[in-house]
Amino acid sequence: MPDTLIAPRPGTTPDTAPRAAAKRVLSVRDMAVEFPLHQGSVRALDGVSLDLHAGRVLGVVGESGCGKSVTARAILGILDRPGRIVGGSVNLDPGTAEQQDLAALDPNGGVMRDIRGSRIGLIFQEPMTAFSVHYTVGNQIIEGIRAHGNVSKTEARKRAIELLREVGIPRPEMRIDAYPFQLSGGLRQRVGIAMALACEPDILIADEPTTALDVTTQAQILDLLRRLQRDKGIALMLITHDIGVIAQMADDVSVMYLGKVVEFASVEQLFNAPRHPYTRALLRSVPDIRAVPRQRLATIGGAVPHPGVRPSGCAFHPRCPEVIEGRCHNEAPPPVPPDQDGASCFRMELAEELVS
Ligand SMILES: Nc1ncnc2c1ncn2[C@@H]1O[C@H](COP(=O)(O)OP(=O)(O)OP(=O)(O)O)[C@@H](O)[C@H]1O
Ligand SMILES: [Mg+2]
Repeated sequence: MPDTLIAPRPGTTPDTAPRAAAKRVLSVRDMAVEFPLHQGSVRALDGVSLDLHAGRVLGVVGESGCGKSVTARAILGILDRPGRIVGGSVNLDPGTAEQQDLAALDPNGGVMRDIRGSRIGLIFQEPMTAFSVHYTVGNQIIEGIRAHGNVSKTEARKRAIELLREVGIPRPEMRIDAYPFQLSGGLRQRVGIAMALACEPDILIADEPTTALDVTTQAQILDLLRRLQRDKGIALMLITHDIGVIAQMADDVSVMYLGKVVEFASVEQLFNAPRHPYTRALLRSVPDIRAVPRQRLATIGGAVPHPGVRPSGCAFHPRCPEVIEGRCHNEAPPPVPPDQDGASCFRMELAEELVS
């Protein structure tokens, strides 16, 4: 039975390193992304900051069009053309002698290609995107293993079988010679995870990894991801529009709206005391299985505007139930500090004034 209870899973903290003690492995600061189009440039990301920590899961949530996938693709240097990073930094190993700004690298160059795979693995929504239909899954995993290390074919095949076993593929010695289309969606996503792990990356980015799967398979794949992430101490960035997945999986959460992070908090804080009206609206829009049957679901009125027509002031103000007349239309609230809990909202400032 999949866990759809909208409450952070128990035991988030005991076996997970506290954020302050965990090693920061990737640090995105003020990242801006633009897509130059005929009609003018579309600013899809407008100053995104986030940190990934070893052994922790950062959930990234927001409605369709908020910029979740663009954030992932920009970090990995695989933005659709002509999209490009026009500001900010993406530091790998921040604060160490090895620190490297991925935003300054050629996205198609050798260094970036090596980082993709060996340091940062990617899991797609539809695993078929990651595969070629013409090769067996084994060949593709073996190729991944050999691309980043000096490993013999026999050794790589042995390792591929081990990986397939690790991700729960039954009879991996046989399945290794299957073609992707011969596998069910759930098995394909397990292979997708095996491929992402082939070169033992310490960072994983999963973009809606279970959206294409049925509910039961979805729960199994999420369990698998969580177990692997914990066992290997991986920093996982998990993108989803499903707040239930966030409750089940995340340690920390970045809530995105129209190309910005509007709230950042630990998962407990986010569910117990959401600071941004958008977060509150997202939480209200989820069916609570403890609620009276057939109770009407609350929804957020309106839709996310296109980034080409960003509203003035706070971009959420046209849909905000808590809008402050005369202020939110005209003035942009200060951004969320990148490394501490907070929200980009004047209401929060007012609440703090009341407290102090
Ligand atoms: N290839 C592209 N060309 C032009 N604009 C793009 C392109 N890809 C994304 N965008 C712009 O960036 C915005 C954010 O897109 P993104 O795919 O990151 O949204 P998302 O949060 O991942 O949504 P979803 O939940 O539907 O996957 C889009 O609304 C669009 O305006
Ligand atoms: Mg997306």
